[in-house]
Amino acid sequence: MVGRKIQKTEDDFIREAMHELPYGIYVIGTTRGGKPNGMIADWVMQISFEPRLVVAAFERDSSSLGRIRDHGYYTVNLLPQKDGLLIAQRFVQPSNAAKVRGRSDEAAAQQHDKLAGIDYRLSERAPGCPILEDAVAYLECAADQFIEAGDHVLVTARVLYGEVQQSGDPLTSTFTGWSYSG
Ligand SMILES: Cc1cc2nc3c(=O)[nH]c(=O)nc-3n(C[C@H](O)[C@H](O)[C@H](O)COP(=O)(O)O)c2cc1C
Repeated sequence: MVGRKIQKTEDDFIREAMHELPYGIYVIGTTRGGKPNGMIADWVMQISFEPRLVVAAFERDSSSLGRIRDHGYYTVNLLPQKDGLLIAQRFVQPSNAAKVRGRSDEAAAQQHDKLAGIDYRLSERAPGCPILEDAVAYLECAADQFIEAGDHVLVTARVLYGEVQQSGDPLTSTFTGWSYSG
């Protein structure tokens, strides 16, 4: 096998091109039953000025999507480039451990508290959804439409309020090198 040339497929070329799309690194805050949660997400953007609307794309089986369907609100936290990678790493695990294939029943039954050890407060406008104290900026959002889009669900939302909490560059996929695309 040594020296054998691996032929790239058309799909490989498309994936490589899509990996070049730059994204912000966000923590989407949700809540249910008094338990706040944070989910790391790349696919978030503004889609209207008047009214101010954003959209976030959720995997169909993300627990965050279920919380938003039940509760109707989410926060968007924009992580800082400085030290934001350490925060982001805390949110990479799914809250429902069963989502990671190949885990034992015992490991899969665990609920991972991604907010443990993170400084946050609970939003009033997006009731109970977490706002990270270290976020460069945050948005408090009320879910509007749920739109099926391939293997994700787009959740459009009205921006109820937002604030910049600190100066400094936001964390982006260009900085982390992480890829959620392709
Ligand atoms: C860098 C990065 C970006 C991600 N972007 C998204 C995204 O935009 N939408 C999404 O549904 N999942 C995204 N994910 C995957 C979710 O964070 C992951 O499925 C998580 O387990 C869902 O958390 P939850 O079960 O607490 O909702 C991303 C993961 C990483 C590492």
